[in-house]
Amino acid sequence: MKKRIAILASGSGSNAENIVRYFSGSENIEVALIISNKSNAYVLERARLLKVPALVIPKEEFSDSDLVLAKLRAYQIDFIVLAGFLLHIPDYLIQAYPGAIINIHPALLPRFGGKGMYGDHVHKAVVAAREKESGITVHYVNELYDAGTIIRQEKCRVDPSDTYMDVAHKVHELEYRFYPRIIEDVMKQLWPLENGKS
Ligand code: GAR
Repeated sequence: MKKRIAILASGSGSNAENIVRYFSGSENIEVALIISNKSNAYVLERARLLKVPALVIPKEEFSDSDLVLAKLRAYQIDFIVLAGFLLHIPDYLIQAYPGAIINIHPALLPRFGGKGMYGDHVHKAVVAAREKESGITVHYVNELYDAGTIIRQEKCRVDPSDTYMDVAHKVHELEYRFYPRIIEDVMKQLWPLENGKS
C-alpha cells in the first residue's frame, strides 16, 4: 500500500503542485488529498486540474477534532505536509500524527519566523534587514509557529540590489528543488522500505 500524503495549503499552491508532480510516478508515496482553509484559494483549482481530491475546511471547523480526524481517516492519510498553510495547527492533530507533520518556511529559521511571518512578509523583512543570505527551512510541526525541530535548511545568496521579489524567486526555486525530496526522506525514515525504492 502506498503511503498517503495530505497537503494543507492556503494560497496559490505552487509547492503543492510541485509535490503532486514529483510523487506522481512513485510506487510508494502518493498525494491523496489537498486541504485548504480558503474556499477561493488557487490551490483548489490546481487540485482539480491535477485530479487530486480536495476539501475546504474553514478556520472555524479546524478546531473540531472529530470532524477533521474523520476526514483524514476517510482518505487514509498517513503524513501531512504544510505548503503555505497559514492556520495554526491544533494540538489534537499533532498528537494524532506524531512526527508526521512537516512545514516549509521561506527563510532561515529561527530568524524571520513566527506568527504573521509568511510569504512576502518574510522576504520584505529579509531585504529590510540587509541580509546576505536567505533560504528555506523544513521542520517538524509542534504547538508553536515555526518552532519545531529543524529537518533541513538550504541557502541562497541575497545581493544588495535584490528586491523582495528577487528573494522570493530564489527561495521558491529552492522550495521546488528540495521540498519533495525532503518529504520523501522523512517518509522513508518513518516507513523504511525493503528495497529502498520510491
Ligand atoms: C511558500 O513560499 C512557503 O514557504 C510559504 O508560503 C509560500 C506558499 O507558496 N510558507 C510560509 O510562509 C509559512 N510560514 P505557494 O502557495 O505558491 O506554494
